[in-house]
This record gives sequence, C-alpha cells and structure tokens, in this order.
Amino acid sequence: MNGLDQIINISYIVASIIFIYGLKMLGRQDTARRANMISAVGMLIAIVATLLSKGLSYQWIIVGMVVGSAIGAYAAQTVKMTAMPEMVGLFNGFGGLASLLVGMAEYHLHPHSSVETLVSIYLTVLIGAVTFSGSLIAWGKLSEKLSGKPVLFRGQKQINGALLAGVLAMGVWFTIYPVESYTLFVIAAVLSLILGVLLVIPIGGADMPVVISLLNSYSGLAAAMAGFIIQNNVLIVAGCLVGTSGLILTQIMCKAMNRSLANVLFSGMGATAGAAVAQVKGEAKAMTSNDAFYILEAARSVMFVPGYGMAVAQAQHVVRELGKILEENGAEVTYAVHPVAGRMPGHMNVLLAEADIPYEQLIEMEAANSMMGAVDVAIVIGANDVVNPAAREDKGSPIYGMPIINVDQAKTCFVLKRSMASGFAGIENPLFFCDNTRMLFGDAKTMVQSLVGEFKGS
Ligand code: TAP
Repeated sequence: MNGLDQIINISYIVASIIFIYGLKMLGRQDTARRANMISAVGMLIAIVATLLSKGLSYQWIIVGMVVGSAIGAYAAQTVKMTAMPEMVGLFNGFGGLASLLVGMAEYHLHPHSSVETLVSIYLTVLIGAVTFSGSLIAWGKLSEKLSGKPVLFRGQKQINGALLAGVLAMGVWFTIYPVESYTLFVIAAVLSLILGVLLVIPIGGADMPVVISLLNSYSGLAAAMAGFIIQNNVLIVAGCLVGTSGLILTQIMCKAMNRSLANVLFSGMGATAGAAVAQVKGEAKAMTSNDAFYILEAARSVMFVPGYGMAVAQAQHVVRELGKILEENGAEVTYAVHPVAGRMPGHMNVLLAEADIPYEQLIEMEAANSMMGAVDVAIVIGANDVVNPAAREDKGSPIYGMPIINVDQAKTCFVLKRSMASGFAGIENPLFFCDNTRMLFGDAKTMVQSLVGEFKGS
C-alpha cells in the first residue's frame, strides 16, 4: 500500500468514526442538529479522500456533484416538514439506483471477476433495483400521487415468492456463466424492478413510513454491497450503518404499533384508515371551552398528549401558547410523546420543536405513564389510537398490547377532536366514555385558540 492509499484509508476510518458518533448524537433531540452537521463533515472527508484515488475522470464527477448538490439543496430548502418521509423515500430510491448502476458498470468493466465479486454485483443490482422501484411507489403513495389503498389480489404472495426465487436462480446461473449471461443479467434487473413494485403495492399508504424505513435499510445494504465490488471501505461501513439503523427504526415502529413486520408488509392495513366511525357505548360527555377553562385554571399539573390531529390542524404553536399561559398560572406543564403518534417517526417531536417547546418539557411515554396519577388534566390534542385504553384492557382489540399513554388515569382528561370518528386503526375508543373524560369537539387549533381566549379574557 503506497502513502496515498494509506492517507485515503486513514481518512475513511476517521469518516467512519464520525458517522458512528453522529448517529449516536442523533438519538437525542438537543444534539440532533449538531449530529447532522458532524455527520456531514464525515461525509466531506470521505468524499475528498475518494477524490484523491487514482484513475478518476474528474469532469463527470464534477458534473454529477454540481447537478446533485443543486437538486439536493433545492429539495432541502423547499420541502415541507410533513413531506419529509416522502422525500426521504425518494432519496432512498436514488441510493438504490446508484448502487444498481455501480453494479452494472462494474460488470461491464470486469465480466471475468471472481465468484465473490460476481455475487456482490448481482446482489447489488437486485437489492438496488427493488429499493429503487419500491421507493418510487412508496413516494407516490405518501405524496398521494398514487392511491394509498393497498392493492391486493389473489396469489400475490405466491407470485412475489416465485419472482424472487426466479431472480435468485438466475443469479446462480449468472455467477457460473457471467460472460454469456448478459441478457439474463438485464432481465434479472428488470424483474427486480417489478418485484420492488409488487412488494410495496399491497401496503396501505399510512404504513408507508415503516416501509420507507425498511427500504432505507435496503438502500444501505445495496450500498454496502457496492462497497465490496469497488473495494471502498467507507462505503461498506456507511452502507452497514444505514442498513442496520433502518432495520432498528423499522423494528421500533412495528413494536410501538404492536404489529409484526409481516403484518405491516402483508396485511393491507390502512385501507380504511380514519374512515370507520366508533360505535357509541354509553354517552360521551362534551364540554365547552368555557367550562374547560375553569378546570384548567385550577390545575397544578397539565400534560399535553398530541397526536395526528394536531399535525392536521397545525395547532402546535397555539398549544405552546396555552402551555405558557398555564405555566404562568402556576401549573407544571409537560408534553408526552408517543413513539408512533402521528404518521412518521418523530412526527410530534418535529412539530413541538417547530413551536419552540423546551426539550425539558417533552417526556417519553414511560415517564408520562409513571407520573400520570398525579396529573390534574391530561389534554389529548387530536390523538386517538395512542391513548386508547382498549390496547391495555381489551384482548380482542386489534391494537391489544400496543403500549399507550394512560391518559385515562389522569384526574381529568380532555379530548380535543372534531367528532367521535376513530383514528388510524379504525376502532372505537373507550376513553371517550370514561367518567373523567370530557370531549371538546372542534378543530384542535380553533379549540385551543378559544381556551387561550378564555384565559386572556379572564
Ligand atoms: P390517530 O389514531 O390516527 O387519530 C387521530 C385523530 O385526530 C382522529 O381520531 C381525528 O378525529 C383527529 N383529528 C384529525 N384532524 C383533526 C383536527 N383538525 N382537529 C382535531 N382533531 C383532528 O392518531 P394517533 O393517536 O397519533 O395515532 C397514530 C396512529 O398512526 C397509530 O395507530 C399508529 O400506529 C399509526 N401509524 C403511525 C406511524 C408513525 S411512524 N407515527 C406510521 C404509520 C402508522 P376526528 O376526525 O374526530 O377529528
């Protein structure tokens, strides 16, 4: 190894350490922003080190960098926070496409490679193609360019299984007769693209964040495979980090929904998301903002529990305003965040951070539940499934076993939503009928605004 190679490899090790450090910092809200910057520095080191390699054609690299950076910068500047999952989905897809092209190019350059390299080339193309076409479908469903309804048909799993088995069998042939198998290789790439589409269409639009996280993991795997082909250590490390972190996030989301990955991928849930109306058992007690004001005014401890409806209503800023007023009134105010509240990982954290809610006031589900008995008023803002006691008590419930925020155990619980309609899981919520629950019907933002108005007018 000459001096230059040594410098490149040492730079790769430094970049890898920075990536791991950045990932660790991403785990905390107060360090997440800095983590992104630090990881970007790691990426810069990796890019500069790679550009030092011999035999590169700089003109094409410069064209690629200029065009790619311009598109990336524009997308990052203009994307709406709520459109983040679909943008991540699309970028994952391009990661898959890049790996696919690396695999194809390497085959063209070195069709006589060793068996190990040929296996890496084939897997890179297969995983890259599935990631690319699957991500495009996921992007289409999330951005509502395609219907979010699951597309289900008879024999679907068998067709997908047969397609996968066929592509893998072609891979065996390809590694034995690589030079003669050019057409077969191209057919396998096309079949892999079709497989990506078929794997994602049966999944409901609302489950797309889980799928995007899984595809993110695939794109990491494809990149790691591409790293093996071109013998680039930092690509192998970064690909593995993306692969494993995507898988861990997928697991966390499934666990927090108490669903297996197989259930997310094959059950077609989300087809009727939000459509079913809960059957009324007993009577839910509605309340006006004026009545609610008197209870809140006396409260010493208030916990906000936001959900998807807060995102729909864009109520986070006015919630923050109410929180401040309650604090000034002498109450201890907290914001409890359920890991799958909303429709994307960290959805509530992002909204609450946007409204400048101090990190110390954000609490996780376990901490919220341990202090719930002492909470005077739990205010549920457009959340439904994540506060449904049926998940704790009703063995027959589809969400039984999903951890929830136990707002029914607070002294009083206010639920702000527009109607008695169910949430994502499409099931009724006994919370609305509890003795200590009061319903404040209306758009979350309007209702919180009128609570703020009550305090200001008092
Ligand atoms: P949901 O159970 O979906 O309930 C949201 C509630 O918000 C609805 O019942 C709706 O009732 C209300 N709402 C809608 N617009 C509103 C508005 N403008 N003002 C006031 N309320 C409004 O939400 P959640 O409790 O956050 O639970 C999330 C669900 O999504 C879970 O089932 C989870 O498994 C699933 N999921 C989450 C993710 C991630 S990663 N977060 C990914 C996929 C699926 P009204 O129509 O009566 O107003």
